[in-house]
Amino acid sequence: MNSNEFFQIKNKWKEFPTKIQGGVLCVGEIPVVAVDEKELQYLFVEKLFKDSGKKVVEIGYGLGFASDAIQKFIPREHIIIEANQKLARVAMHKFPLGVVLNCFWEDVNPLVFGQADLIIYDPINPLDSKLSGRSLALQHLRPMWEEILPKMNVGARIGGLDASGRLKEVEIQKMVGDLGEVEVFTCPPDVIPRGLPWFNEGCNFIYISKK
Ligand SMILES: C[S@@+](CC[C@H](N)C(=O)[O-])C[C@H]1O[C@@H](n2cnc3c(N)ncnc32)[C@H](O)[C@@H]1O
Repeated sequence: MNSNEFFQIKNKWKEFPTKIQGGVLCVGEIPVVAVDEKELQYLFVEKLFKDSGKKVVEIGYGLGFASDAIQKFIPREHIIIEANQKLARVAMHKFPLGVVLNCFWEDVNPLVFGQADLIIYDPINPLDSKLSGRSLALQHLRPMWEEILPKMNVGARIGGLDASGRLKEVEIQKMVGDLGEVEVFTCPPDVIPRGLPWFNEGCNFIYISKK
């Protein structure tokens, strides 16, 4: 999906129907998360949470795998931001005491990000099909980097997990705001789960965490 296609469908994203097709959740016709990703999403959250009581902002509900895992760690607050109406409703139903915002994260008051202990960033971004590997992964990161990161304190951490389960993180202060210096994993071909070609392109789960 390139940016032209993405911006054309973005205003319909809220109302798109959802379906599971070939083991993949699709919003409209766009594949967003595979049923096979459950374990990885769990692993990701488990690696991040060393303790309970965190204030977590999660971007992108999808099949709710990461949300379920976050709940296991008894967060102090768990805000889920999900643009699609149907998926947001599922989240509201499943977590009646949680906060589910049915909107794009780009439209959320920045204070919500500034006050979080941990941000888990897993939305869908328009990606340029001419890019690959590290450049493509960086393109996925860019909106978060430009919009969310300035609201976080120096000393916050940013990182990601690839399909082999490797977690990599760096401190924001070491990167002096230059996205070009961010180290991004690309997943070795032998560990790419079958049917999940997007893992080939680098970190899929991105998080930001206060120290
Ligand atoms: C990769 S899936 C998330 C998978 C999820 N981590 C899980 O455990 O199942 C991406 C989700 O983000 C939502 N989404 C995409 N762009 C978004 C945006 N800009 N703001 C909020 N939600 C968005 C999609 O509707 C989709 O549900």
